[in-house]
Amino acid sequence: MTEISYGDLTFYDTHPGVIAAMGALVGLQPPPVETSRVLELGCGTGFNLLAIALSLPQARVTGVDISEAHVQRAREAARAAGVTNAEFQCLSIDDFPAAENSFDYVIAHGVYSWVPEATRDAILAIAARSIAPNGLAYISYNINPGWRLRILVRDTLRYFEGASIPDARARVNALAAALPNPDSAYSRALRSELANLDGAPDYYIAHEHLVPFLTPVFFEEFVNHAAAHGLQFAVESRLDSNLFARPDATQTHIEEAAGGGYIRREQYLDLLLGRYFRRSILCRDGLPINRDIDPLSLLDRNFTLTVTPTASTPESLQVRSAWGDNLTVTDPVDIELLHQWTSAGPIPVSAQWLAGIVRKELDLDGAGEAADPLVASVLWNGAREGLWSIRDHIPPVVNVVSSHPIANPLARLQAPDAAECTNCLHRRIILTPAQQHIVPLLDGSRTAAAIAGEMQCEPAEAEKVIIQLAGLGFLIA
Ligand SMILES: C[S@@+](CC[C@H](N)C(=O)[O-])C[C@H]1O[C@@H](n2cnc3c(N)ncnc32)[C@H](O)[C@@H]1O
Repeated sequence: MTEISYGDLTFYDTHPGVIAAMGALVGLQPPPVETSRVLELGCGTGFNLLAIALSLPQARVTGVDISEAHVQRAREAARAAGVTNAEFQCLSIDDFPAAENSFDYVIAHGVYSWVPEATRDAILAIAARSIAPNGLAYISYNINPGWRLRILVRDTLRYFEGASIPDARARVNALAAALPNPDSAYSRALRSELANLDGAPDYYIAHEHLVPFLTPVFFEEFVNHAAAHGLQFAVESRLDSNLFARPDATQTHIEEAAGGGYIRREQYLDLLLGRYFRRSILCRDGLPINRDIDPLSLLDRNFTLTVTPTASTPESLQVRSAWGDNLTVTDPVDIELLHQWTSAGPIPVSAQWLAGIVRKELDLDGAGEAADPLVASVLWNGAREGLWSIRDHIPPVVNVVSSHPIANPLARLQAPDAAECTNCLHRRIILTPAQQHIVPLLDGSRTAAAIAGEMQCEPAEAEKVIIQLAGLGFLIA
């Protein structure tokens, strides 16, 4: 089953620009992203790393995967996309020769929980040995208590091992439909977990559930494992997953209920939320970490918009986040910010640009520095809610359409086979059929009129779609 390829996926939270921004938020001084050395363990077909390499042309990225087919696909894609700063090694993580201080960022996404104990240990040993003194490691992993429930799906799917994946799914669904005690805790849990698989591709089932090893851990166990290698937990890569960014009432409840130190309280949050998955950023032991965020510190940072408006009423704006959540925004200042930001395009903006809008909306133009705390709190709260994220590095992306537009080369490779493509900011965006059709043609050799000719549509129609793609962050200079 595991020979089924995992798909050509990219993951926003693994981008060194995102990892570094989160590290800096908690007081670390991560290595410069632009010239960084990046290692991805278990890199699959390499698309995540290739997107990183394209967005950081002066960086040097290395991917390691045990699957020959994955590495071959990664190398072919690198050639096709003209990526020259990436190399891929077909090797087991267990055998990777980690040299001291050889990488600034180490990524292992979707690997730690799906490999034997020795390989889990090797992931942390490699991260600990190879990161620079201020380097950061991003490791994602399945956690309990959420997986105590999800394991029901794995158990039932594995019962039908030997059947094809569509067949195993059909049999498990038939079992769920025939549960004799439909209201029992077991039946409700199984049905609710199975519902998560609706629409999931076969490769997801193969790699998420039908792998030979699947070892969810409690957060505290993971932290102890990292500590045994001289690494400490710094921060979760998604701001709103961190206890320090949760609503104040949750923080107060946990402080009273859990006591103890920060790790103990983060563990309590997993119990409270029944979480399944973490994306943790680790750094060397001993580096000082400050999770008591002063919103004023955000006024020197850059931000990127992480939502796309989907509908609006006079009082609210519906948006879809980069992580697939549908959110309703009701605060008028946030709504105005999102409107202006969406029209300005996808390039990350400075806090000062955003502050200008906030000051105008709140009638604070004459208030000078006295208004800074209020402005900073608007930026901090929006970031906590997932409307935008801190992103210091500005990737090569343009929001103006040139005479011969160019789409990011990775998206040009993805678009013929998939509607979901990766933009220049490492976000996965679902394209319309017209956008999907045009992306591969945007290689800098065609004008909008020539593209219209090939698509047999009016030039104005082709231009409209190209402008949309610019707004979605797909165009480079
Ligand atoms: C679930 S996939 C995740 C791939 C990619 N990181 C992603 O999230 O899309 C796990 C990957 O780890 C690779 N892998 C498993 N065991 C490995 C090992 N011992 N050494 C190197 N790669 C390994 C598999 O070939 C596969 O590409």
